[in-house]
Amino acid sequence: SKKLNQLEYLHGAAVCVDKSGTIVAVDTQCAGDVKRAAATLYPTLGEGWSEEEVVVQVAKEGQFFFPGFIDTHIHASQYPNAGIFGSSTLLDWLNTYTFPLEASLADPSKARKVYSRVVRKTLSHGTTCAAYYATIDVASTNLLADLCLAAGQRALVGRVCMDSPLSPEYYRDESPAQSIAATRATIAHIARIDPAMALVRPVITPRFAPSCSIPLMQALGALAAETDLPIQTHLSENKNEIALVRELFPTADTGAADDSYTAVYDAFGLLSRRTIFAHAVHLSEAEADLIALRGAKVSHCPCSNSAITSGAARVRWLLDKGVCCGLGTDVSGGYSPSVLEAARLAALVSRHVAMGGDEAAKLTVEEVLYLATRGGAEVVGLEDKVGGFEVGLEWDAQLIGLGSVGEDGDVEDGEEDGNVDFFGWETWEERVAKWVYNGDDRNTRKVWVRGRLVHERK
Ligand code: GUN
Ligand code: FE
Repeated sequence: SKKLNQLEYLHGAAVCVDKSGTIVAVDTQCAGDVKRAAATLYPTLGEGWSEEEVVVQVAKEGQFFFPGFIDTHIHASQYPNAGIFGSSTLLDWLNTYTFPLEASLADPSKARKVYSRVVRKTLSHGTTCAAYYATIDVASTNLLADLCLAAGQRALVGRVCMDSPLSPEYYRDESPAQSIAATRATIAHIARIDPAMALVRPVITPRFAPSCSIPLMQALGALAAETDLPIQTHLSENKNEIALVRELFPTADTGAADDSYTAVYDAFGLLSRRTIFAHAVHLSEAEADLIALRGAKVSHCPCSNSAITSGAARVRWLLDKGVCCGLGTDVSGGYSPSVLEAARLAALVSRHVAMGGDEAAKLTVEEVLYLATRGGAEVVGLEDKVGGFEVGLEWDAQLIGLGSVGEDGDVEDGEEDGNVDFFGWETWEERVAKWVYNGDDRNTRKVWVRGRLVHERK
């Protein structure tokens, strides 16, 4: 994705990646001739390179490389509940389904099982980078960071902060001080296992305003200022939640500019360029303008917003205001761990917004793919590292296999193509559209992060 509405196709190109996983050259003129590309590219690679140690990955007929997907909001701890939400809405869903499961992950063997599987599953769907919520438990949150690092998935890992008496007694922080100390313990752990934050980084994670006391919100704002770390939280997801925030955070207590949800985060220093807001469904004009002014980011979660009936976020409206947006699966408010599914649902939800009277709201295939990659990279603060195939970025990529057409004109390799049915006459633009609307992990043949192969479909 070059821009929101521009997807560039490089036919027969070669991308050269060095041993550190960085893209060092892109040859768009080699017409798929790897030898030719090599002859052009090797001289530019400097000392220590020989043809013998070069691994060549080739997209065959019908296949293409695509930047890895970025899931800007996913609760790793809720993965076992994917698909289990009944007819609930946010606040009853949290108490019925979510808090009991999250609390149970204090059991290390259960946490290992859940976190191993969510990392493996998301990688298999092409998620090369995820902004994870874990739980309040430090040991298992640290384990999630270990597992991401071992599996080679780029990740932001957040130890969840929630000390409000509104949270159940069996699942909440004891005090603001304990919540901050626990958060610091996870920050220190990640600094030990990945000192350069090459793959895994901590993220300050107030669950959402109603879960946090005013002193905890203040302390988390101070921690963000001290550490310069990213922040993730939920914003304006559900109408009852918004009413609750008004009740819990009167302006007389917070000193906020007004009684809006967004102003509450702003009052505590939690609204900054490094903030990722999941949902942002029911914002006022003034709130969206404030988010744009502060340079905070939005994780659009169309699957979750539909499943637990939160509402239809107005993505076009946010984008037009200059708010940077990406996609989140929000497992398990969302039932699917697939960012491709999130992209497809972003397109559909935007059509529902359009049916409400705003024809311009419709998001195109190019636009949802931008949100899934380049937009997501900016949301998680990694736009200098990932999101596309330019020189200087790292090789976070997926090899997508669609129907290949044989010499007889018939589509070969049919069984592996899953839901995507090709006839052979489709243009590449049409193939990509068919992938977005009908594709799944059966089309995700290989996945790399920082040049390392992290998934291969057998
Ligand atoms: N708001 C507070 N906690 C959660 C959560 O776990 N999921 C979603 N979707 N919204 C929340
Ligand atoms: Fe969420």
